[in-house]
Amino acid sequence: SKKAFIFDLDGVVVDTAKFHFVAWQRLAVSLGINFTEEENEQLKGVSRVRSLEKILKWGNKEIDQKTFEEKLIQKNEEYLEMVETLTQEDILPGVHDFLLRLRESEQPIALGSASKNARPILKKLGIYDLFDAIVDGTDVSKAKPDPEVFLNACQLLNMPAKNAVVFEDSIAGVQAANNAGMISIGLGDQKNLSEADEVFESFLEMPTDYQHQLLNKTK
Ligand code: BG6
Ligand code: MG
Repeated sequence: SKKAFIFDLDGVVVDTAKFHFVAWQRLAVSLGINFTEEENEQLKGVSRVRSLEKILKWGNKEIDQKTFEEKLIQKNEEYLEMVETLTQEDILPGVHDFLLRLRESEQPIALGSASKNARPILKKLGIYDLFDAIVDGTDVSKAKPDPEVFLNACQLLNMPAKNAVVFEDSIAGVQAANNAGMISIGLGDQKNLSEADEVFESFLEMPTDYQHQLLNKTK
């Protein structure tokens, strides 16, 4: 049977989560705020605007609208400088092969990301054409954990939500998948992603028989 396979981008397909962290960390320091790696887990999957709002709240800090916008521009510029260094080597382990296997068996594939930089990053990595549908931060109005991004992806693939499998590295993203009634698979640390239906350290750790089972699984 067919499933909709929906991939988050940052931290699932490509190793850019660390760039976001560095750029947020710098921005926070520039405002005299420090935030922990644990707090950073709560920024994963979260839109740019919402992330800055959270950092300001944690730091108990208020800034005017103009500064807010300037800080976001600066954060993105620094992030994009790091993105410039990306090569195919930064595609996370096992992802490329898994995508190719899915294509071989003609499974519908989508990207569901909060990032406004998703399309150029996929093009830079040479894997843009592997996706049948792309929904990113330029297409949605509600941030994860709202299910909008994944529901839109399913709609584009013409598949019901209950037949979708979502791969996520973020708490907000796992919650978005669960809120959409989709199977959620966490990539990363079990202790952060305990709400996911299943967690693997990476795609390399996902057993072949589990991949086959996925095709027949519903929530
Ligand atoms: C998510 C990342 O994929 O996209 C977040 O996990 C990031 O860290 C968000 O803030 C928005 O990305 P961008 O590229 O539009 O700033
Ligand atoms: Mg992510």
